[in-house]
Amino acid sequence: MAASMVEQGEDAFRKLFKFYKRRNPPPDFSDVIDFSKKAGNELVYAAELKHGSVSEEAAFRAGLQPVKEWRAFGLHGYPGFLFISNPFLPGSQHYWVKQCLKTYTQKPNVCNLDMHMSPAETENIWEKSVGSFRKKGQREPRTLLEKLRWVTLGYHYNWDTKTYSPDHYTPFPEDLHSLSHKVAAACGFPGFKAEAGILNYYRSDSSLGIHVDESELDHTRPLLSFSFGQTAVFLLGGTKRQDPPTAMFMRSGDIMVMSGSSRLLYHAVPCIVPAPAGHPLPSCLEQHVDKDELNDGIIQTVCEKDWEVCSTYLQTSRINMTVRQVLGPGQSFPVTHSQTVTVKEQSRSGYEEETQMAKKRKSETGYDLDS
Ligand code: SIN
Repeated sequence: MAASMVEQGEDAFRKLFKFYKRRNPPPDFSDVIDFSKKAGNELVYAAELKHGSVSEEAAFRAGLQPVKEWRAFGLHGYPGFLFISNPFLPGSQHYWVKQCLKTYTQKPNVCNLDMHMSPAETENIWEKSVGSFRKKGQREPRTLLEKLRWVTLGYHYNWDTKTYSPDHYTPFPEDLHSLSHKVAAACGFPGFKAEAGILNYYRSDSSLGIHVDESELDHTRPLLSFSFGQTAVFLLGGTKRQDPPTAMFMRSGDIMVMSGSSRLLYHAVPCIVPAPAGHPLPSCLEQHVDKDELNDGIIQTVCEKDWEVCSTYLQTSRINMTVRQVLGPGQSFPVTHSQTVTVKEQSRSGYEEETQMAKKRKSETGYDLDS
């Protein structure tokens, strides 16, 4: 059904985007590549990783399985694209979810709520939201956590100018740098420097429009993408906006790497897939870390109280962390790029190119501020 829609044409990508975004009747997902399944797809092949590049101990300390155990795939027709099917150790995704909700939402990081709320109002988003999450059965007006759409780290992306600036930088989180460095090394990119991060928070009706991530100044470095929580459909297109895309599921724990000639491909997230009845959380998130095992690693155990909030949030949400190296070795920002970012009303829809469609996109991307 969906495959028959994938034909070269002016809006082949947009057609498929709308197909998967549709709610009523729900789309047929049978053409979506599922890397978690053994049954093969003609486009998929097993990819070789650099097993020796990350020691078992270093992987363990980052909450990852030994690299030799990772299930990594490439896609014919997409050189440089890699998909790693949940390489996290049982229970260790909890830490990254907690970081995305409790730690990375803190100042000096920037989030969509800063665009229309005062600094005092957007301080301690976690603390201001957890009370409502912990009250079982009663739903109050939406919490700040539920209104959160994006957070930026390191070089803070400016959605209006689509640039990074040396004038708007705060230290990139050490733990996420360390995880990214290891994943990149395993994929053949030693020395990766995590310099900018965009965290996307998807509710069950969110989507992310068709775009390319090209603002980084060095495109020889990969883009890493980590997914947690509900499953999404990801569309990977070509170098032209209208090229027909390939659809694949992104499940909790999956890591995607865009590098080489796949680094600048159009992509989008048309929908979050409804959780199967009776299973509000993916089973990999039901596993817990053995507390004693995580003494001096990068990741720490998440206390039950915090996980209760995270898991309630994830029953209707997906979190994606994309990590980028902005500058190549020895590279610096051109002088003209140096600009002070003024925090003003910006919308995530700046990510897409057709500004005249902003209103329509609001429902598509879910990233315009609607609160
Ligand atoms: C992005 O392209 O910025 C995010 C993709 C995703 O959420 O998987």
